[in-house]
Parts: sequence; structure tokens; C-alpha cells
Amino acid sequence: MKVLVTGGAGYIGSHTCVELINSSIDTVVLDNLCNSSEKSLDRVREITGTSPVFYKGDVRDEALLERIFSENEFDCVIHFAGLKCVPESVKKPAEYYENNLGSTLVLCKVMARHGCKRLVFSSSATVYSAVNEMPLKEDSIKGDCTNPYGWTKYMGERILTDIATADPEWAIALLRYFNPIGAHESGLIGEDPRGIPNNLMPFIAQTAVGRRDRLTVFGNDYNTKDGTGVRDYLHVVDLAKGHVAAIGYIMEHKGAEPINLGTGTGISVLDMVETFKQVNQVDVPYGFGPRRAGDVATCYAQADKAKRLLGWRAEKTLEDMCRDTWRWQSSNPDGYGE
Ligand code: NAD
Ligand code: WQD
Repeated sequence: MKVLVTGGAGYIGSHTCVELINSSIDTVVLDNLCNSSEKSLDRVREITGTSPVFYKGDVRDEALLERIFSENEFDCVIHFAGLKCVPESVKKPAEYYENNLGSTLVLCKVMARHGCKRLVFSSSATVYSAVNEMPLKEDSIKGDCTNPYGWTKYMGERILTDIATADPEWAIALLRYFNPIGAHESGLIGEDPRGIPNNLMPFIAQTAVGRRDRLTVFGNDYNTKDGTGVRDYLHVVDLAKGHVAAIGYIMEHKGAEPINLGTGTGISVLDMVETFKQVNQVDVPYGFGPRRAGDVATCYAQADKAKRLLGWRAEKTLEDMCRDTWRWQSSNPDGYGE
């Protein structure tokens, strides 16, 4: 079995490479390194003993993709490559639509030309409308996205669903991730955001290690148990294993299938801060600030479809997520150092 992993040097991609290699799957990475470091792939080799084959380049480069597909016979593709920063997408919408949709369109064109019609797509809980009751189910209402990034995922799903409808040979898993956090338990790979982190866990970790003075908790007046936002955080290694399970599914089932990957449990910002402090015995100074525009009070998954279709469920605990994040952050205070 041979798999092309676009965006494989990134946060979720590098953890998925480890799980693919550990499952004896030949792993080929295509990444332009616009938001990652090639060092992550050296670390994948340190963990697994095997280097993924690496092509440096852009998924939108059709000639390059054509060459990669001529040099390799892939059973399927996992498509992580994309831009993912919500506030940046508000400032640079065209760049987001061009990258996230352009890469998906070129990839599908070249895949079809080479008769490779199995795809795992990185979608997101962000495709769900804020009007839904919790938990979010795969058939909950989608749309009303609050930012261009969210729309790129919504539209990406639409494009792929239409492709699978037009040509019934396609098998596509639309994996809707909730909030991936944590790091490989070796501490060798983890999340390394450029600039000031937008997301909660990297901000907590960088505060604990002294790179940030203090965390601002965005809002403490939500209708939640302690007033702070509640999310469905899942360990990135569980998420990576979900991709291996999804490959098993698309080897056997055609069509485009949306599947939530989450734990089904809501955790508040204060739960997260307190667990991080307690598990790691470190301080995380914080204060309260106003709500962040576009945030909802609560977001968590109904996770039973993944169990039913993929035989997958999240196994790691919140303590594991906090401990593994800290092992990565404290042994790599500057991430990959780029
Ligand atoms: P990441 O930025 O760490 O990884 C994305 C990788 O894609 C990077 O290595 C980047 O260099 C590469 N890339 C981007 N555009 C490219 C292009 N045109 N050609 C080649 N390479 C390109 O992000 P991540 O957190 O690992 O996310 C992976 C995927 O999962 C993304 O599609 C993201 O939108 C999606 N997702 C992430 C989250 C999350 O919270 N991290 C949640 C839901 C969905
Ligand atoms: C979590 C909670 C914040 C930072 C985002 C994207 C989403 C998805 C995952 C890709 C919220 C609070 C955060 C901080 C805080 N990505 N917070 N202080 O907003 O659920 O989802 O990442 O698809 O599209 O929108 O995650 O980690 O940013 O925030 O208080 O400095 O932490 O208000 O309640 P979010 P997050």
C-alpha cells in the first residue's frame, strides 16, 4: 500500500506519517513548507526508523503532480495541504480560496488521470453552522461560516461530493476534525505555529515555557459551566490513527462520506488551563479578556459515526494531551527553530 500525503510536513501530517509508517504503508510527502519545517520529517525518521519520500513543492503545480504520479503508483491520497489560520483568511481571502480550493482541484484532476480515486480530505468542524444544537452530527446544518477559511472547507467538501456523485468510482472520506492538540509521546514532533499562536493549546504551552507573558481567556460570560468557551479537543495521535482507519474504509466503500473526528466531550478553557498546570506542575498565568469575534460558546462532536464506519474512537485523555504537549514544548522551546 502506497499513500501520497500532501501537507505531510505539517502538524497533523507529520503525526499521520508516523502512524502510516507504523502500519507498514509506503509514505510519500508533498509539501511546499509554507507553514512547516522539513525537520519534522527527520523527526518522523527518528521515531519510526523510516524516512518518508519527500517532494518539496506546491500541490497546485500540475506538472509536478503529474511527475509524482508518474513516478509512484498510489493507492490513495491524504490531502492535508492548505492554509488554516482563521484571522489571516479574513485579511487574505483570495489567497485562502486559491490555495485551499486550487490545490484540491488540481489534485483531483491528476488523481483521476492516473486512476487513483481514493482520497482522505482534511475538513473541519468549522463547516457546521452556529445554529445547531450540540452535539454536532454529520447531518447537522452546514454553512453560515464566519470566515473565509471555514468557507474553503465547506466548498472543498462540496466540490469533492460533486466529484464523487459524477464518477461513482471515487471513494472520499471527508474527515471533520474538531480541535486537535497534543504531540507525539516521544516529544520529537508537535505543533509549531509561526508568530503568535491563535489557538488555545499552543498559546498555553508557549506561556508555560516563558515565550508569552500570559494567556488571555477570551470571554468568561458564555452560557457554559464556568463561563469560558467549550470545545472538543482530541489528541493529534488519535487523529492520525483516524486517518489510517479512514484509508481502510475507502479501500472498501465508494462515494463521499463526511465523518466527525472528535471525542464527543466538551472541555472549557479553564478546564484546559487547570489540567495543564496540574499535570505538568507548571504555571500558566492568565487573565480574562473580551470574547473573540466569531467564537461560539460550545462546540463538540457526536462521535459515533467514526466508531461505526471506521472502528475508530479517540482513546487518549485530556491529561495525555497536556502532558504530551508539554514534553514537546519544553524539549523544543522554539519548536523546530525556524
Ligand atoms: P499545518 O499548517 O501544520 O499543515 C499544513 C501543511 O500544508 C503545511 O506543512 C504547509 O506547508 C502545507 N501546505 C499548505 N499549502 C500547500 C500547498 N499549496 N502545497 C503544498 N503544501 C502546502 O496545518 P495542520 O494543523 O497540520 O492542518 C492540516 C489540515 O487539517 C489543513 O487542511 C487544515 O485546514 C485542517 N484542519 C486543521 C485543524 C487544526 O486545528 N489544526 C482543524 C481542522 C482541520
Ligand atoms: C479554543 C477556545 C477560544 C486562544 C479554531 C478554528 C477552527 C479549527 C480549530 C481548523 C475558544 C479560547 C483561544 C486564546 C482563548 N481549525 N481561546 N485564548 O476557535 O475552537 O477553532 O481552531 O479547522 O476552524 O476556528 O480553537 O484553539 O482558537 O480556541 O481563550 O488565546 O479557546 O475563545 O473558546 P477554535 P481555538
